[in-house]
Amino acid sequence: MLGEAAVWRPDKPTPTADQVLADPRYAMYLAGWPRHGDYGLVAERDGPLGAAWYRTYTEASHGYGFISEDVPELSIAVVVSRRHEGIGRRLLVDLITASIAHGYPALSLSVNGDNPARGLYESVGFVPVEKQGSSWTMVRHAAQSN
Ligand SMILES: CC(C)(COP(=O)(O)OP(=O)(O)OC[C@H]1O[C@@H](n2cnc3c(N)ncnc32)[C@H](O)[C@@H]1OP(=O)(O)O)[C@@H](O)C(=O)NCCC(=O)NCCS
Repeated sequence: MLGEAAVWRPDKPTPTADQVLADPRYAMYLAGWPRHGDYGLVAERDGPLGAAWYRTYTEASHGYGFISEDVPELSIAVVVSRRHEGIGRRLLVDLITASIAHGYPALSLSVNGDNPARGLYESVGFVPVEKQGSSWTMVRHAAQSN
């Protein structure tokens, strides 16, 4: 799932778990799981269909969608063959609910400007706050209604 999230364009090959975990840019999103505060959800039917998870990072060590040490950054992916069925939206909504229950003030993420997932994020209340290269950092504050 990390490989699916890292290489989101459907025309590009998905890296294997070993490949993606060997790349420090991506491995940081899962290395040492579960660390204190890590939380994730897996959608399954006869095997994994998708996953969404979050963890917090530090000023010294963080990924693309970092905004602060108390705001977890989320990652999400659904297997190519099962996209557009509502699995991603359900994972995302349930992950937001969990982050609020765990007392986090917000969630953040990083999404390429060309990735249609941006519309999904906006529909559940994420707003773009910063552009870094071709990617947007988006934030959803816990104290909002949508
Ligand atoms: C993003 C992703 C997790 C969404 O999961 P999903 O199960 O396909 O999403 P859903 O079926 O719940 O669709 C929700 C919305 O996503 C949008 N969407 C997401 N990906 C899309 C795509 N490739 N093309 C068109 N719309 C897309 C649609 O607007 C859809 O809205 P709708 O429900 O009103 O039709 C999935 O497309 C994926 O794994 N993409 C590759 C990895 C990735 O980009 N991860 C995020 C990195 S920031």
